[in-house]
Amino acid sequence: MKPCLQWTTLFPESSYFLQTECGWTRPESRRTLVQSDTLHSSKDMNRLAIRGPIFHTTENPADNTSAWDYLPDGVMLIANGLVERVVPAEQFTDDMAATALVHEIRDGLICPGFVDAHVHYAQMRIIASPATGLLEWLEIHTFPEESRFSDPVYASRIAIEFFDEVVRNGTTSALVYPTVHAVSVNSFFEESYRRGMRMVAGKVLMDQNAPQELCDGNDAGYKSSQELINKWHEHGRQTFAVTPRFAGTSSRKQLKACKQLLEENDSVLLHTHLSETLDEIDWTLGLYPEFDDYLGVYDGFGLVSDRSLFAHCIHLKQNECERIADAGATAVLCPTSNLFLGSGLVRPKQLAKHGINTALGTDVGGGTSLSMLQTMQELYKVSCLSQETLTSFEMFYLATLGGARALKIDQYVGSFEPGKEADFIVLDSGNSKFMKQRLERTENIKDKLFVFAIMGTAANIRETWSMGQRVYARDEQNP
Ligand code: GUN
Ligand code: ZN
Repeated sequence: MKPCLQWTTLFPESSYFLQTECGWTRPESRRTLVQSDTLHSSKDMNRLAIRGPIFHTTENPADNTSAWDYLPDGVMLIANGLVERVVPAEQFTDDMAATALVHEIRDGLICPGFVDAHVHYAQMRIIASPATGLLEWLEIHTFPEESRFSDPVYASRIAIEFFDEVVRNGTTSALVYPTVHAVSVNSFFEESYRRGMRMVAGKVLMDQNAPQELCDGNDAGYKSSQELINKWHEHGRQTFAVTPRFAGTSSRKQLKACKQLLEENDSVLLHTHLSETLDEIDWTLGLYPEFDDYLGVYDGFGLVSDRSLFAHCIHLKQNECERIADAGATAVLCPTSNLFLGSGLVRPKQLAKHGINTALGTDVGGGTSLSMLQTMQELYKVSCLSQETLTSFEMFYLATLGGARALKIDQYVGSFEPGKEADFIVLDSGNSKFMKQRLERTENIKDKLFVFAIMGTAANIRETWSMGQRVYARDEQNP
């Protein structure tokens, strides 16, 4: 595919689309528009052709400014839920059309589903709860709410709400914190498996400095994590991450057990928080005085590797940055949470300059939205405050392929390479005349994506697809 064909209207026209006074027309001999009901009820769903403007990144555009592809009029061929290939519409032959159901996207942009690289599903009901900072917020809002997840009925209800909300926001994969309760992990994965979504999660581990009912008893965290790994890791599209909440709520013994879990299960990830607030850093080093810095605690227990994801990474020292980069670990940037909790201003370009892999997370309920578009907005603004400027391609990369790489699921999702799972979304102006007019003023795909990044919300997600199945259609839910 060749990048950089410019849009001259809100969304591109091609010879394929002939506009008449009653809207778009198409040569009847060639294609069938799949109506929404047939999308769900048709028995012949194994071959699909999704036609419209298609965008994805192919590498990190921060390293290679042409690492993206855009087809103003493209066709994504999908067989059995997998991308077969993406072709310009003029190469979409009658033979291809004859064997596939064709779904046309008009006035919309197809791009990979978002990957939210750090989110707490168990905090859905405490989003927007005020506190003076992280540690108080954990104590007065988070721990009481997470205690409720010992109840399987409650855990399942919130898991359903979470997935409904996630697809409404265009997110198709995430790295997720449940709670310490095995039942919260089971409820999460059961719902994800039922919906056929690609998700990563793990039992939260805590055995100190938290309410008794949220603490793992002797060795219980290790045993329960291993049982859950046996049950869920690489089961369908589910994968597991060993999840010590953060160093302060795990004993030395528990951090050792984390290392053991990683050694015994060589494809599970490590997911935790690092250097989010200054108070947290002081508190942690008070608990672990034998280490020079916060990262040193995780390092000392063998938890820093290319399988590690550290949420926040705001107040790192230079030397910590170098060690994270050397290990190939990932820093997950969570700007809406950092602003809401007053944690600090993360510096994406600075981290990248050290060679640290980065991804983007909503961190709900510390974060204030499950929308990765709104998360991009805040990231952009926070970066500006440090005299850093992100491009739209960089932001979309972080929210798609960059996130997939960090979660080690990029062989499956994150872009539209042949063989990948067909997880994608359709963005549009969300029936906003204001945004439509702003989009019309843009001259190329880069500027158009920037408008989506800076103004976008869930309202701009028209459709969400997972493995070639449409799992959300905005205009059908709100006719
Ligand atoms: N650090 C430890 N636990 C949490 C949490 O639940 N949210 C955030 N933002 N930071 C944490
Ligand atoms: Zn978090």
